[in-house]
Amino acid sequence: ARVAVAADVGELRRLARRRTPRMVFDYVDGAAEGERSMARAVRAFDRVEFAPHVLRDVAEAPTSVEVLGRRVAMPVVLAPTGFTRMMHRGGERAVARAAERAGVPYTLSTMGTTTAGDVAAAAPGGWNWFQLYVVRDRARNLERLALAEAAGMDVLVVTVDVPVAGARLRDVRHGLTIPPSLRWRGALEAVRHPAWWFDFLTGEPLRFATVEGAPEDMAGLTNLMFDPSVTVADLEWIRAAWRGKLLVKGVQRVDDAKELAAVGVDGLVVSNHGGRQLDRAATPLELLPEVVAAVGGRTEVFLDGGVRSGADVAAAVALGARACFVGRAYLYGLMAGGEPGVTRVLELLRAELVRTVQLLGVSGGVEGLTPDLVRLRGS
Ligand code: FNR
Repeated sequence: ARVAVAADVGELRRLARRRTPRMVFDYVDGAAEGERSMARAVRAFDRVEFAPHVLRDVAEAPTSVEVLGRRVAMPVVLAPTGFTRMMHRGGERAVARAAERAGVPYTLSTMGTTTAGDVAAAAPGGWNWFQLYVVRDRARNLERLALAEAAGMDVLVVTVDVPVAGARLRDVRHGLTIPPSLRWRGALEAVRHPAWWFDFLTGEPLRFATVEGAPEDMAGLTNLMFDPSVTVADLEWIRAAWRGKLLVKGVQRVDDAKELAAVGVDGLVVSNHGGRQLDRAATPLELLPEVVAAVGGRTEVFLDGGVRSGADVAAAVALGARACFVGRAYLYGLMAGGEPGVTRVLELLRAELVRTVQLLGVSGGVEGLTPDLVRLRGS
C-alpha cells in the first residue's frame, strides 16, 4: 500500500532499503570503486537549469514519442539488469508486466533469472528487448539470440562496457554471493527482512536462466564468461545473426560514437553502466549533447545513467536523447513492493514528465522539447 502512494523515487528507495537485505540493496544501489561516476551521473541532473516559456497553450501535454520506428507511451526504456529475481521474487516477469501496462519497452539481460520465453509469456503485449553480453563461447551467443528471437524480441542491445568486471566494493565488503547465502548475516538478517527471506527460502530457486556453472561471485563469473577481445568487427556477425534492430550500449566518447554510426547501428546508448564499470568515466548527460551533435542525424541516441525523475527525462530529451534507459529507479520500486512498486515508478516518471513539459511552457508535449530549454549550470 505504501508503494502506491510513494511521492517520488527517493521514497521508494527508502522503502526498498528497509525491505531487502543490505547486501541485496547494496548490489543495486552501489557502483564501482569510489562510486564517483554514479554520483556524478545523478548530480549532473542537479546542474540542469530550465528556461521555461510562459503564456503558451499547455492544456495538452502528450508524452508519446517514436523509438526505433515505433510509438511508445513515453521516452523511457527499462534497462537490462542481471539477477532481477534476487531483488523481489516477481523478478523480470513483474518488471516486464509493469512495462507492458505503461507502454514502454523492457530489456531482458543476458544475466537474467527468467527466460526470454517466460518474459514474453508474462507480458505478451509488451515490447520486450534483449540485451547481449558477448561471451567467449560463440555458439552460446547465437543460441541466446535465437531464444530471444523465438520469444518475439526484435531489438538487441549489445552492452560493450564490460570487457572485464568492474570493482563493486560494496559487494566485496559484504562477500555477496550469487545467490545470496544466509550464512553471513544469519538470524539477525532474517529477522530484519522477514518477507524477503521467506520468499527466498520458499520461492523458485534463484538462478540464471541461461547461464550455467556460476562461481559464487558475480565478478568471477563475469571474467570467466565474457569475451574481453570483442571489437567493432564482431558487430558484423551479430548483425548477420540478428534480424531486428541493433543498439550498442556503453558508448562513452564522441569518436567511438562516430565509428559505430559509420558501421550502421540503429542506435547508441550513451552510458557508463550506471557507474558500475570504469569509475570516473564521462558523465552521460554531459556527454550527450556532443554525441547528438556528431551522430544524431544518422542514428538514434539514448541516455542511460542517473535518471530518477520525469524532470530528468525531460532534460535529457530536450538535449537530444531519443529516450532514457532507467535502471536503479525501477529496481528500487521492485525491491520496495514488486510489480506495484515498478508500476508506481512508471506512473511517477510519467506524471513528472507531463508536469515538467507543461511548466516549461512547451506546446505539443514531449515532442516539442528543444535544447534551448535547458542549460547545464557551472560549465
Ligand atoms: C545493471 N546494468 C546492466 N546492464 C547491462 O547491460 N546488463 C546487465 O545485466 C546489467 N545489470 C545491472 C544490474 C544492476 C543491479 C544495475 C543497477 C545495473 C546497467 C543498467 O542497464 C543501466 O546501464 C544502469 O542501471 C543505468 O544507470 P541508473 O539508471 O541505474 O542510474
